Amino acid sequence: MIKIAPSILAADFTRLGEEIASVKTADMLHFDVMDGEFVPNISFGLPVIKDVRRVTDMPLDVHLMIRFPARYIAEFCQRGADVVVLHVESEEPWEIKKAIRDVKAQGKKVGLSIKPGTPVSALEPYAESLDQILIMSVEPGFGGQGFIPESLGKIEQAAQIVARLGITCDIEVDGGINRVTARQCESAGATVLVAGSSVFRAADRAEEIRILRGN
Ligand code: DX5
Ligand code: ZN
Repeated sequence: MIKIAPSILAADFTRLGEEIASVKTADMLHFDVMDGEFVPNISFGLPVIKDVRRVTDMPLDVHLMIRFPARYIAEFCQRGADVVVLHVESEEPWEIKKAIRDVKAQGKKVGLSIKPGTPVSALEPYAESLDQILIMSVEPGFGGQGFIPESLGKIEQAAQIVARLGITCDIEVDGGINRVTARQCESAGATVLVAGSSVFRAADRAEEIRILRGN
């Protein structure tokens, strides 16, 4: 069954503890870190994940939309990240390889993400080491954007790489996930769906998570 990861970027930060509790039936909590350099927005970071870790035992899926993520891996891991996802566009290839090793050395799962304009082939050199591939279906930086339909082909390509390598690797899709695009992504091979607006804007968030899961 497909996993749902609500993005707290769409939550009400004045009531973050309650907001997190309202989505506790989800599979993971998606934590969008933005530095204003890699993406044209600034969100939150290390102090917030430390407090979020204290209020939930949900797996924390940390999406690093930052330059030089390798510098912060140990701290995000030590403050509670369960999955650390970095962008292939954010570092030199040798730094990406080192960052992947560092996340694993911390005993955490590692993911690698590509922006809409980056081909899936960019993931190939690292694929064998990954626990998760993140296909961005919107330009990273903001919630509430429309799903980019070309993402479906990229999900299929990523699923083909995972099958060909015979590895256990989630395929996560992030951006513009709603009741329609959720099913399209699942059919294309996605195994994890990030949902910010569609969950946090719903009147009944548990019900929305159930519907997005497709059960
Ligand atoms: C965008 C973030 C996404 C975003 C998803 O840069 O990586 O996780 O918060 O929000 P929605 O589901 O509203 O597109
Ligand atoms: Zn994200």
